[in-house]
Amino acid sequence: MAMNLHGKNFTVTGAASGIGRATAILLAELGAAGVAISDVNEVGLKETEEICLKFGTKITARKLDVSDADAVSSWIADTVSEFGKLDGAANVAGIAGGDGTTTVQTIVQRDWDRMMGVNLNGVMYCMRSQLEHIAKPGGSIVNVASTAGIHGLPKSAAYSASKHGVIGLTRSAAGEFGRAGVRINSVLPGPIDTRIFREGEEKGLFDAKVMGGATQLGRMGRAEEVANVIAFLLSDSSSYVTGARWTVDGGYTA
Ligand SMILES: NC(=O)c1ccc[n+]([C@@H]2O[C@H](COP(=O)([O-])OP(=O)(O)OC[C@H]3O[C@@H](n4cnc5c(N)ncnc54)[C@H](O)[C@@H]3O)[C@@H](O)[C@H]2O)c1
Repeated sequence: MAMNLHGKNFTVTGAASGIGRATAILLAELGAAGVAISDVNEVGLKETEEICLKFGTKITARKLDVSDADAVSSWIADTVSEFGKLDGAANVAGIAGGDGTTTVQTIVQRDWDRMMGVNLNGVMYCMRSQLEHIAKPGGSIVNVASTAGIHGLPKSAAYSASKHGVIGLTRSAAGEFGRAGVRINSVLPGPIDTRIFREGEEKGLFDAKVMGGATQLGRMGRAEEVANVIAFLLSDSSSYVTGARWTVDGGYTA
């Protein structure tokens, strides 16, 4: 069955750049009725909005920090009133690194709290609101974790811990909502050539050559290659997939 998103409405966080932007564009390209995009970066968000509008999809764009629970809940409620219903959500927004050093012994409290606030609380706030409104049956939520959610990442312990948390949240929620016909999955990207990776590389946290070279395919991935899997998981084509940890890592963890 070809992926068909006609008549469906989605939300996408982290849509100003990288995987979130590629996901929003693909959902629009695949014929989604509406896509509500959000990000802290308004300039990037506007660019994504303009690209998506070319496909004739209804787009709403909002500046939103996912670590702000009230802002997330009004965004989801407003989206449902604007679109009439919510069929799926891609919770993509995330950060890596920090202002200070990031080892377990030296990480400063502010960096730890920010990492958990965005990467873990952010996904929880999104799901809490989305699950209230999402189509039952038929809804689908995809949370972007990381391969660092199933292995440790020295010098990025907070990041790895937050992504382990995203997987735990996802699998627990999948168990809570499976009987209601809502599927909830996580996607675990490996090394993907986006801003977060390049900024981490500048800080000495990741190395494109080393990590790309350590995959079975011998290269970094592209944001669009992750978006393809997210769109599949949001579509009815993945109707028997829930609670999964879907790696998109060129075989990095294999
Ligand atoms: N690139 C990789 O190698 C890689 C690997 C594994 C997982 N991931 C995950 O993929 C997701 C997307 O990252 P990307 O690679 O596309 O990087 P990216 O930096 O291109 O995109 C991340 C987006 O999230 C937004 N964002 C950051 N903090 C936010 C907040 N508080 N509220 C709302 N939006 C916020 C940023 O403005 C940005 O637009 C992240 O969750 C990241 O952890 C990326």
